[in-house]
Parts: sequence; C-alpha cells; structure tokens
Amino acid sequence: MKPSLKGPGAGLRISGLGVVVMAAGRGTRMRSKRAKVLHRVAGRPMVLYALDLALQVAGRRIAIVVGHQAEDVRRVIDAEIVGKAGADSLAVVEQVEQLGTGHAVLQSRPVFWGTKEPRPADYLILNGDTPLLKERTVRELLRAHRSEGAAVTILTAALDDPSGYGRVIRRQPDGSHRGGLASSDVLKIVEDRDATPAERVVKEINVGTYVVSGEFLFPALGKLEPHNAQGELYLTDIVRMAVTQRQRVVAVMLQDSEEGMGVNTRRQLAAAEQVIRQQIRERWLDAGVTMLDPASVWIDTGVSVGKDTVLYPNVTLEGKTEIGDECVLRSYSRLTDCRVGARVEILDHCVLRESQIEDDAVLGPFVHLRPGVLVRRKAKVGNFVEMKKTDLGEGAKANHLSYLGDAKIGRGVNIGAGTITCNYDGVHKHQTTIGDHVFVGSDTQLVAPITVGTGAVIAAGTTVTQDVPADSLAIARAAQENRVGWAAKRRIMMERSSAPAQRPSSGQKPAKAAVSPKGKGR
Ligand code: UD1
Ligand code: MG
Repeated sequence: MKPSLKGPGAGLRISGLGVVVMAAGRGTRMRSKRAKVLHRVAGRPMVLYALDLALQVAGRRIAIVVGHQAEDVRRVIDAEIVGKAGADSLAVVEQVEQLGTGHAVLQSRPVFWGTKEPRPADYLILNGDTPLLKERTVRELLRAHRSEGAAVTILTAALDDPSGYGRVIRRQPDGSHRGGLASSDVLKIVEDRDATPAERVVKEINVGTYVVSGEFLFPALGKLEPHNAQGELYLTDIVRMAVTQRQRVVAVMLQDSEEGMGVNTRRQLAAAEQVIRQQIRERWLDAGVTMLDPASVWIDTGVSVGKDTVLYPNVTLEGKTEIGDECVLRSYSRLTDCRVGARVEILDHCVLRESQIEDDAVLGPFVHLRPGVLVRRKAKVGNFVEMKKTDLGEGAKANHLSYLGDAKIGRGVNIGAGTITCNYDGVHKHQTTIGDHVFVGSDTQLVAPITVGTGAVIAAGTTVTQDVPADSLAIARAAQENRVGWAAKRRIMMERSSAPAQRPSSGQKPAKAAVSPKGKGR
C-alpha cells in the first residue's frame, strides 16, 4: 500500500559496496538515560533510519557499530531485520569504548577484511543520528564518488546556524562552489570545538555521510591521531589526510539542507520529528488519503493508509498500523499496531492496540481494544466497551458499556449493555465461549470458564455460572415481588415527616405506612 519511492535507481542495489552505520555513541547532549540512536522519530528508533538506507542502497555487507547500551540497540536492530532480505549479511560490531567516529568505523574492519569475499570497492559510512537523509541523496553521493574517481566523497549542507557541526573548509571560501553539484576544492573538515573563529563562521557543514574508496579507508583510519579538543579519533580527519596525499576529495552539497540535520539534542529531535511527520502526511495525502486538518494528524513511519480513507483532526496512527480503503477515523482516536480492513468506521476517542478489525465494522465512540482482539466483518462495538483477547463474530454487536476478555463470541451475537466476562479468578484467566446468534441480556456476568450454546438467550441481570445448552434460556436472578401501593404510602409518610410540626386537628389520625421504607423490601 505504501507509495513507492521515486527517483533514479530506487530499488537497485549497488554492488561492491560495504556500509558502516555508526551507532555506538552515548549522545550526551540529549541528557537522556537512553542511548541517542534509540530515541524515536515518527515512532521509529533513529538507528533504523540509517539501517533502512543501508538495506535499500547496498542490501548486504552492512556493519552496524554499537557501543553505548549495545544490547538494547542490538535488540532493536534484530527485531527489525528478522526475515528481511540482507539480514544474514548484517553484522553488529561492538565499539567497547567510544573513542570517536574514526575509531567506530575502524571496529568494522574484520567484517569486510576477514572473509573470503573480495573487499568492498567503496564504503558508505552513515551517522546513526541523521534520520532525514533520503535514499536518492545517498545514491547521488555514490554516483558522484564513482564518476569522479574520488578517494573520499562527503555530503555537505549550507546552514544559517552551523553551530555544533563540523565545518567544511575549502580553497575558495567565497561560496562559488554552491549549487548541489559535486566539487573538489575541499581541504578539511574542522569540528566546531576545534574551529578557529574564522572557520566557525563557515556555514557549510559536514552532514556525516561519506563514501570512501576501499583502498583508502582502513589504512587512513589506522593513522588517525586524537589531537583535538575531544581527544577522539575523528573520522572527519580522513579528508585532510586524503588532501595531503593528493587523493581526490569530492563534496556534494544538499539542495535541501534540512535533510542533513543531525540529532544531538532534544531540540533537534523535536525539529526532525516535525519534518518527518510532515513528509509522512504529504506522502499519504498524495496517495489518496483525506485529512481534514493534516497538521494535527500523527502517522508513524511504519503505518500505511488506504485510498479514500478520511482522517479527522487529531487522529494518531502508530507502529505498524495498516488501514484499508474508504475507512473513516474520527477525532482523538489512537491506533497502535492494528490491522483495519476496508470501509471501517472508527468514531471519536477510541484507543485500539494490537488488534484486527475486518471490513465494514463500526467502532466507537470510546472503545478500548487491548491486544489480541479480532472484530470480524460488520460487527459493531459501541461506547465504553473494553475488549482483550476476544474474537467478536461477524455481525455481532456489543454496543454499550461492556468488558469482554478472553472470549470467543460467535456470529450475530447481541451483547447487551453492561455485560461482563468475569475472566479472572485472582490467579488465572479463563475463557468464555458464546455460540452463534446468542442473545445476552443487559447486565449479564459470565463467570468463566463458561460456554453458552448456539441460539441461547440469557436473561438480563443473570450471573451465568453454568454452561448454557444451545437454544435455552438462562435466567438467574431473584424473583420479583410487587407491593402494590407501597410507594404512594411511603411518599405520604415522607411528606409528613418533612412538613413543619403541626398539631393534628380533631378527628384526624396520622396515617401509618404499611411498611417502613427503611431496611425492608427492594
Ligand atoms: C559528527 C561529525 C561532524 C558532523 C556531524 C553531523 C565527527 C568527528 N564529526 O559530529 O563533522 O558535522 O556529525 O551530524 O565525526 N559514534 C560512534 N562512536 C563514537 C562516537 C560517535 O559510534 O565513538 C556515532 C554516534 O552514535 C552517532 C555518530 O557516530 O551516530 C556521530 O556522532 P556524534 O557524536 O553525534 O557526532 P557529532 O558531534 O554530531
Ligand atoms: Mg551527531
């Protein structure tokens, strides 16, 4: 359902390429307990954006360098790549001490040098904190690198506020090189903290995306020295090294500098989030989805939405949610990892998680689906209904105020208002099974494990504690007693007791209620 990526070469894997993704850093500037690359952008951990690019462009021979919170990062990567093409040729390598980006790349050498396969002709190196980078830009960079016969090709961007980034220092600092084309007058990259005041005013920054020739990369990395403000081995120093060795260095400048945004701080994280959210909305608008107030609609990057589906303001679609064609999702509903068929209507304020909703079903307002729910075709779930691990049959209805958990409910069943499956005995969960076309009267409790046979009727207010045979009536409630006139008498008595004290006139006796209203009768 996802619209395909446009652009030259999309989908083609570039051969002779090794890819290194750097994802070992702590991300101190995030002021977080969590490793920076695990912070999410549009619902997806940042590191996966770089991994996606690697898989799209090279498809194989990918090394991801992890370090800080290595196990957590590894888990996220593993979960993502299971079953994907290229998964078997992805290596996660550990940078035990984070001694800089040059040192990070160096850790990947055994992946490429230690096998029988020929060493890659070129390496694509990606920062793990640049989630806005596009596939076509990376392809453009690779094309420039190979057509120019460069040793090092860097991606650059012109920023109004370049602070924090490495600056690209050129022979002609007058900006005459601008325009997005490859150019080759680069001398070096200087990190912000190492830059002189004159270098600091340079607005052209290093994006952190590189293509380096196979012959040049690892020998150069082996010669890096930590002579800088941070005492680290900077990958960026290979540019100066190549220039010194009279090797060709090429720079490709981004047309849209936003794409080069690196995420080092929460502010940058928020800014990247805004940009990606807007891109995602535009992608789905272009694919035929209606949004009444696009800016208020949140769609995670892993979501897909069908044609002619209408999203009202403040709808949130998270995780791997898939929405079919011609659905209507009203305001303030949030769907996480759900699969929704076609022509489904989800009214306002529904919270749905890890559930499946088949075609033509209607949900809401105020429905809460917890994981494991299947709402079958044309079924209806109304206000204040909570479900969990429940299969609601085709055309069945649970329209008001119910809890249905661990239940299998047949087709055409009517679940009356206030029905509760009592699925938990304090220790274990138990199953409720309701056959096709059962009528469950309002305010019924089904004490699980329990089975109600096909076509049975359960009288309102029944606590069902025994299985109900098919086509039977189950009724379990106290027999009703009507006390004729009781209420009228009580009313009179109440009026008297609240009236101001009066001396009864002669001949009148105060009326006595037949029964005391307190404590007796119901
Ligand atoms: C880096 C570049 C800078 C560029 C900027 C673009 C260097 C020395 N500087 O700076 O020129 O403008 O990116 O956003 O490369 N990492 C490791 N191991 C380490 C250190 C970092 O794997 O020892 C990873 C991080 O997890 C991150 C990436 O490398 O994904 C970049 O590191 P970061 O600390 O963000 O570098 P910047 O200061 O942003
Ligand atoms: Mg960074």
